[in-house]
Amino acid sequence: MKNEINIIALDGPAASGKSTLGERLANYLGFVYLDTGVMYRAVTLAVLKQNVDVEDETSVVQVAEKMDLDFCPPSCSDGRSNDVILEGEDVTWQIRKPEVEAYVSLVSTYPGVRNAMTMQQRKIASKGGIVMVGRDIGTVVLPNADLKIYLDASVEVRAERRYNELIHRNQNPDFDFILSDLKRRDEIDSTRTVAPLKPASDAIIIDSNKMDAEQVFQNLVDIIKTRKLN
Ligand code: CDP
Repeated sequence: MKNEINIIALDGPAASGKSTLGERLANYLGFVYLDTGVMYRAVTLAVLKQNVDVEDETSVVQVAEKMDLDFCPPSCSDGRSNDVILEGEDVTWQIRKPEVEAYVSLVSTYPGVRNAMTMQQRKIASKGGIVMVGRDIGTVVLPNADLKIYLDASVEVRAERRYNELIHRNQNPDFDFILSDLKRRDEIDSTRTVAPLKPASDAIIIDSNKMDAEQVFQNLVDIIKTRKLN
């Protein structure tokens, strides 16, 4: 393991708190933050907008390869960390819609889609100073990352966190639906043939079942400080 930390891979299942933690860590270190889930969501939204059949793998891959996606500083303070721009349109909240959530895991199983996203993610990481968040960052996208974290929590705890997040966004969530949908996405994400969700063999696994966001963050800061001292 290296002492110099320049590239951090942060993986874990849906609603494990990766995005909150990743963004906070990137700010703390002065690093770039990239949530790769946004990229898979954007492909799914582009597919839906272009009326492409989500089961038509060849056409979905073509959409992914041609997609024009950009991240810009936040244009307003409505809880977003940045603007997600797809083909010139601000889709920051559209990518969180239930329709996208319903198909994103299927779209993410297609090897051609993963290949297109992985290439872009590696290009972004090549500049260094990055916290990249996803499912396969430590295992596939950045296997040489200086620090790999796998953030885990039981599906019940994650469902509760997602429920509270939606309440916070003034939505009207149904806990049982959230729970069953997380189970459905976990199953697809962890059983797919290419780049399944799993911890890298050299990842540090953080079980956040009994930790709040602050405790997880402090835990990670301690890990980084210890690593730098050794
Ligand atoms: O926010 P949430 O944890 O619900 O999901 P996300 O991180 O935005 O990712 C949405 C979906 O994209 C996941 O359920 C995966 O199917 C897929 N994904 C992936 O396959 N690989 C990644 N590196 C990131 C996301």
